[in-house]
Amino acid sequence: MPDAIFAHPRLAPVYDWFDGDRDDLAACLGIAGELGAERVLDVGCGTGCLAILLAESGRTVMGADPANASLEVAKAKEATARITWVHGDAATLPPFGADLAVMTGNVAQVFLTDEDWARALQGIHAALRPRGYLVFETRRPGWRAWEKWAAEVRRLVVDIPGIGSVEQRSEVTDVSLPLVSIRGTYTFHADGAVIVSDSTLRFRSRDEVESSLVRQQPFAS
Ligand SMILES: C[S@@+](CC[C@H](N)C(=O)[O-])C[C@H]1O[C@@H](n2cnc3c(N)ncnc32)[C@H](O)[C@@H]1O
Repeated sequence: MPDAIFAHPRLAPVYDWFDGDRDDLAACLGIAGELGAERVLDVGCGTGCLAILLAESGRTVMGADPANASLEVAKAKEATARITWVHGDAATLPPFGADLAVMTGNVAQVFLTDEDWARALQGIHAALRPRGYLVFETRRPGWRAWEKWAAEVRRLVVDIPGIGSVEQRSEVTDVSLPLVSIRGTYTFHADGAVIVSDSTLRFRSRDEVESSLVRQQPFAS
């Protein structure tokens, strides 16, 4: 079940407005270019920021996400035939013969158990062409990002066209390594609605990531 910030029909439309600088998307586009990837699968595409950039660069794209509200935001931005939007999770992707699958943002950290992570890797493998690539980002636990996040309750107010002023309050609610939980509380000033979104991320070490990839039979072959 995706977090409310992705799945709630009032929160998904405000997600991009609170998202930080997205340099990572340009980096990902660059990698797609280096790999010569023409068919790209964006796993956990969310509101479609990367999928749309990939399509605009002439690639054929599949954007998959289990949060329908985020997919609706993505579809409203871009209706190009170059993107197939799929409502589904990483473990149950349709065949796509992708040259490259990508997971940006927190996607690789939403799989909290080893079993869920293994199922996601298997699902992605099945959607890749033989010898296709998987590129993803995940935070290094050694940087202890949660300590910086926990140092303060962050408040940000954004005036969003068509929605009005929305306040986001973010706080770390639990650190039980390797899991870190964060709460976002959103207040819509137009009608006073308050909606809470809880998220938990798993921080895997490089060794854990590497061994989990090797453990997957398809990846080892
Ligand atoms: C932080 S957002 C990142 C969205 C997008 N990749 C980006 O970079 O803007 C994490 C996304 O992972 C999605 N997600 C959660 N569980 C998932 C799963 N089991 N399979 C695929 N995506 C999932 C969420 O719905 C959400 O859209």
